[in-house]
This record gives sequence, structure tokens and C-alpha cells, in this order.
Amino acid sequence: MTPFGTVELTVYPYECDAFGHLNQAALLTLLERARWDALARGPGMDLFDRNGVWPAVRKATIEYHAPAFARDVLRVETTVAGRGTTSMTLRHVVRRISDDAGIAEAEMVFVCIDRLGRATPIPEEIARFLGPRSSGGHQPIQVPVGDVELAVDVRGEGVPVLFVHGFPFDRTVWRHQLATLSRARRIALDLRGVGGSGVPPGADGYSLSRYADDLVAVLDALGVREAVLCGLSMGGYVIFELLRRHPERVRALILADTKPQADSADAKRGREELTRVAAQQGQDAVIERLLPQLLAPATQATQPEVAQQVREMARRWSVPGLVGALRALRDRPDSTETLRGVRVPTLVLVGSDDEIAPPETARAMAQLIPDAQCHVVPAAGHIAPLEQPLAAGRLLADFLSALPFP
Ligand code: MLT
Repeated sequence: MTPFGTVELTVYPYECDAFGHLNQAALLTLLERARWDALARGPGMDLFDRNGVWPAVRKATIEYHAPAFARDVLRVETTVAGRGTTSMTLRHVVRRISDDAGIAEAEMVFVCIDRLGRATPIPEEIARFLGPRSSGGHQPIQVPVGDVELAVDVRGEGVPVLFVHGFPFDRTVWRHQLATLSRARRIALDLRGVGGSGVPPGADGYSLSRYADDLVAVLDALGVREAVLCGLSMGGYVIFELLRRHPERVRALILADTKPQADSADAKRGREELTRVAAQQGQDAVIERLLPQLLAPATQATQPEVAQQVREMARRWSVPGLVGALRALRDRPDSTETLRGVRVPTLVLVGSDDEIAPPETARAMAQLIPDAQCHVVPAAGHIAPLEQPLAAGRLLADFLSALPFP
């Protein structure tokens, strides 16, 4: 549950420019009104004053998607995208009520300051209002799937979307999508051997078919017959296997930074080498080898926290999980024919700087699937949904809202 309620606000003529569009500064004012209105309805507008602190805005990132006009009524959804000791990040999604058009998305970073302007730890009452700390924030449920239990994060109501992470990430790679996409039932799991999920006994507990069957077991446990399957890289490979084994469970596909080709002989040798590194040196050695290829130069230069999150996700893999996944990756089949047979709405998205599944591969993959959309996310590498969450989130939201009713 987000602590900030949804707020509806009307655009006034004086907030519009000479062409009648809501102007940029006025949008910021609307967001500010939405935050204070939400506080007024919840813990009170004096929440900060009575705790002797103030939320000072330090950074605002705004994407304007569509114009809004005087008399439009806008719905502003506000979620807590992150919280540190002294800082918090709020995300706003703004939609027009009359046609549900996405108007803008914004991310605002605030630092809690005291009366002398110094950064100060967020007081207890405000921390309670914001909810648990950490990007993953939410408590997963445990779903038994035979030989293990899987950690599954389930949020919201609406069309079910099952998010499948890549290698060596975990369900928090989807943290931005889990915090937003408020019209979907967002379901994200840690694969077996990863994060909060169990480690199966024995080395043969990992294969694409086991991973795919795990996804179906999670859907069964949640009472979901058909879901939108959204996979990042290896998550895509698992979904290709699910398409072969359980096609009737797939309502639509979102394929991010992934590719249908099997490993080349060279790539297989690379997997074996990395398997030795995993077994002998552990998670940190694996991620330090992979990291340079994973993130766009822009991400490496401007978002050190993303590199840090990638390291932390890799540390949450068990060593048997790493070894088992690397073998499954090495042995995976070519999925070209599988994709040719897809007959559900499909969105392909790829980072402009993805070195592992580059844009030309993504475009060719989309061409295998009738009517698939393909979008390149600028300034993203192999983890577009984490590196550029606003752009990727907009593509996902638009795709989901255009899905035909079941
Ligand atoms: C992933 O992100 O899941 C991996 O890059 C997949 C791969 O190595 O083929």
C-alpha cells in the first residue's frame, strides 16, 4: 500500500501557456499540491513542522508525455520509490481522467533538513508514514513449488503481470515497475536459488523447464489463469520455455533486453569459465566480470546507485543457483521457431546501449512475432527497466492499457 493517496486536481486557465497547454512550472506546482493534499488527508499537513524538519527537494526528473489543457482533471498517483536515512524519493504518475492519457511522470528526491538546513535522519513518525526502508521494501510471500519455496512480491489489482528477472539479478530489478504500474497486479518472484527463494537440494535442481514450471506454480498459487509475462534477458529465455510448455497461460508478452538465439560455441566456453569463477570465487567475482557489459555508459557515469544495486542483487544469489543458472543458459535451445508461433500482443524493448542483446537483435526478434511492437530505450544498457525506469515504465503502461479486455 502506498501511504500517499491518489489525488485529483483540475487544471486552471492561468496554469496554461499561450497555446493553452499546462505549462511545465505549473505541472510542478500541481505535483506539490498533490503531495500536500495527500498529507492533509492522511497524517496532517503539519507532519513535517511538528517533527521539526522539512523535506527539501534536491532533484526533480520529469518526463512530459502529452499536453494537458485548462479544465482537464488530472489524477496524480504518488508512491515512495526509495528511502534512505535522510532522504526519500517520490514518484508521481499523472494521468488525465477523461481519456486515461499519461500526461507526465516525475521522480523527486527530497532530503530531510533540520531548522539549520542540515540533512537529518527522517524522524520516526515520518518514517512510519513512508513505510519500510529499502528499495525492495515490500515483504514477499513464500510460495511452495515442490522442492523449494519461492519468494514472490505481489502488489495491486488489475491485469496480472508476472515479472521474471535476468542473470544475476533478483526480483528487485523490477522495483520501479512494482512501485508504479498501479493498474496492474504486479507479481515478481526470485527464481529458485536466488534472494528470498529456497535453494533446491542437489545440483540438478536447475533447468529452463524447472524455472518455467515454477512460474506456472506461482500463477496457480495466486489463482491466475492467464498473465502478461514480462521477462528481462534470462527471464525472457525462461518465458520462451514457458511458451513451449504452457502457452495457454500467456495473455501477452513483454520481452526486455533478451534474444532468441542459443549460445554460440564461444559463448558456451564463456559460461563454463564463469561457472568455474562462481564455484571457486563466488558472487562478487562473477558480478565484477559481468558489470562492464551490463550498464550503459550514461548509467555508469551518472547512476552509481544502479551499479551498486546490481552488485547487491548478485550477492543474493546462492553459489549453486549461479552454477545451475549458468548451465541452463549454456544449454538453452534456439527459440526462433517458438517466437514465430506467438499469437498474443507483444512488446519488445531494448536499451540503446545493450551489448548483450543489442537493438538490432531486438528488432529482428520483434519481426518474428506478428504485430509485435519494438522500442529502443535511450541511454540504457542491458537492464533498461532499472536504468531508465521512467521511459521503460511509460512503454509498459501504454502497452498494458491498450490490451484488449479478456
Ligand atoms: C541476463 O541478463 O539474464 C544474462 O545477460 C543472460 C545471458 O547471459 O545470456
